[in-house]
Amino acid sequence: MDVEEKLQFNFTVCISNLFGDYNNVLQFAQTLEMYRLLGVGRVVIYKSSCGAELERLLKIYSQDGFLEIVPWPIQQHLNPSKGWLFSKDGGDVHYFGQLATLNECIYRPMERSRYVLLNDIDEIIMPYQHDNLMSMMNMLQEQHPNTGAFLIKNHIFPPKHFEPSGRFHLPQWNGLPGVNIFWSTSTGRNSA
Ligand SMILES: *[C@@H]1O[C@H](CO)[C@@H](O)[C@H](O)[C@H]1NC(C)=O
Repeated sequence: MDVEEKLQFNFTVCISNLFGDYNNVLQFAQTLEMYRLLGVGRVVIYKSSCGAELERLLKIYSQDGFLEIVPWPIQQHLNPSKGWLFSKDGGDVHYFGQLATLNECIYRPMERSRYVLLNDIDEIIMPYQHDNLMSMMNMLQEQHPNTGAFLIKNHIFPPKHFEPSGRFHLPQWNGLPGVNIFWSTSTGRNSA
């Protein structure tokens, strides 16, 4: 079997650590559905802890194999820093061991996925000249035939713009915890 035949997915997205009582259900679901539309086959997350509603959502997404949850209870062994800025937040290990989990996630899917994306949950690689990530990557790979890794430039969207018609502000989402990223970018960070 050659390498091409073994590839189960074109794209795997690695999301590093979920921790604390993170419970952003709406953003998590919307981001995963967006990834799916763009051609992502599998999302891997490293879970230290999260809120109850998000726990339910994770279970649903992992049942059909779209989501792979890697247990990462590092807080039971070390005192992890709760912020990204180590000098400010202290602790034994930077940001719940994010560098270790992302490193692990480069190796975990490499045999079965053509590309591995290292993303935060508030980041989406969004092509604007193509319908999906595969056709974008086909073009980029043609332009850069000997390149194995691509660095995507991050843009931060300010949290003050809203989709004016409100057509993505659905009433059935009102009771859900989290941020509606289709309506506004009120996390302040979505990369394109
Ligand atoms: C990967 O993308 C190609 C299109 O470039 C498509 O034909 C193929 O079915 C995709 N493979 C998977 C596993 O999704």
